[in-house]
Amino acid sequence: VAPSRSDPLISLVGMPGGGKSTVGRQLARQIGVPFVDSDHEIEQRIGGSIKQFFEHHGEDAFRDLETEVIAELIARPGACVLATGGGAVLREQNRELLRAGSTVLYLRSTPEDLFRRLRHDTTRPLLQVKDPLARLREMHQQRDPLYRRCAHFILESARPSAVQALVNMALMQ
Ligand code: S3P
Repeated sequence: VAPSRSDPLISLVGMPGGGKSTVGRQLARQIGVPFVDSDHEIEQRIGGSIKQFFEHHGEDAFRDLETEVIAELIARPGACVLATGGGAVLREQNRELLRAGSTVLYLRSTPEDLFRRLRHDTTRPLLQVKDPLARLREMHQQRDPLYRRCAHFILESARPSAVQALVNMALMQ
């Protein structure tokens, strides 16, 4: 599936609002490697926001682009910490690429915690619905098994100590 890498890559998967960017940045800083965010790479490439792209081209076109960008980032030389978009695991190809080419961490939160963090967010196109909590519950139910299938480790993101333990582990390698 993915090229085997000589440089360690850690990738983070999990629901929107679960802390992938925050934890990813922290992890990257402590290990001393760059932090890369696949959503940010996509926005650079399209020269606009993901939200607008969804509105104009739809989710399928976004997923195609996401797969291309993830494949490129996995193949890019150099160690880094990679945060992926919450829906990256929906495609089997992405799950396989990530799992074969990196150490995958699933940052797991409850839908209720995610809702608390995302209540006022307007940037996530899939959550611009009447009942975002119900939507988050549905998404969590659909995706939790996929995140688990893709990940090597699961971190309950409500526990900051887990992140520190992880950093220590990464530094020991
Ligand atoms: C999505 C999550 C977003 C972004 C896009 C789709 C999803 O990333 O990729 O809006 O399907 O859950 P975050 O997880 O960083 O919010």
